[in-house]
Amino acid sequence: MKNHDIVEKNVGLLVLLTVVAISFGGLVQIVPQFFLEETTKPIDGLKPLTALQLEGRDIYIREGCTVCHTQMVRPLRAEVERYGHYSVAGESVYEHPFLWGSKRTGPDLARVGGRYSDNWHRAHLYNPRNVVPESNMPEFPWLFDAVLDGKDTAKKMKALRSVGVPYTDDDIAGAADAVKGKKEIDAVVAYLQQLGTLLTQKR
Ligand code: HEC
Repeated sequence: MKNHDIVEKNVGLLVLLTVVAISFGGLVQIVPQFFLEETTKPIDGLKPLTALQLEGRDIYIREGCTVCHTQMVRPLRAEVERYGHYSVAGESVYEHPFLWGSKRTGPDLARVGGRYSDNWHRAHLYNPRNVVPESNMPEFPWLFDAVLDGKDTAKKMKALRSVGVPYTDDDIAGAADAVKGKKEIDAVVAYLQQLGTLLTQKR
């Protein structure tokens, strides 16, 4: 009892010991996740993004698509019925940073790959009202003018390889040629069309 009195009457000590107690709780929950196969192993068939898809992903980040679109289907019936198979950690092991997000002004895009044609995406991104009259998504017409030079693509792939994304030397050597001269819209559509296609459970 006496020791407890000391802790209760000394705010600094109380705070310190509280933090220590909570950290243990956190460690027990968080640390095992780093070693679980389920959270660290890629799912069957997972491939790193191609050079063009990777540039598309960077444009997606630059344009703030993540501000309105999540990329994570939660394991709830309504979500699975609307979007398809719920997201699993093994799909995201090559994602740096991951784009799960939390704000859904527009629909989740984790499984949008293959749902629409390339032409649909082009018309939609040029002006969403072209295909969805009631849409309040912004237009991105400049993606149709901007041309990629591929200058930094190989560097980006090397950086990703250093954190475990299995790009081969050939992938990196061919990166610049694979994107050079392509329009930004081609890269974004290539990126969108592969999203979530490994685990699809049709609506
Ligand atoms: C201000 C919020 C906002 C931003 C930013 C935004 N979107 Fe959207 N997006 C929406 C809304 C709302 C919808 C639903 C209406 C529609 O289909 O246009 C939508 C729909 C979509 C769809 C169709 C999804 C489906 O399942 O029908 C795609 C694909 C999409 N957006 C891609 C993008 C991309 C790529 C970007 C970035 C270049 C982007 N969005 C930026 C709000 C946004």
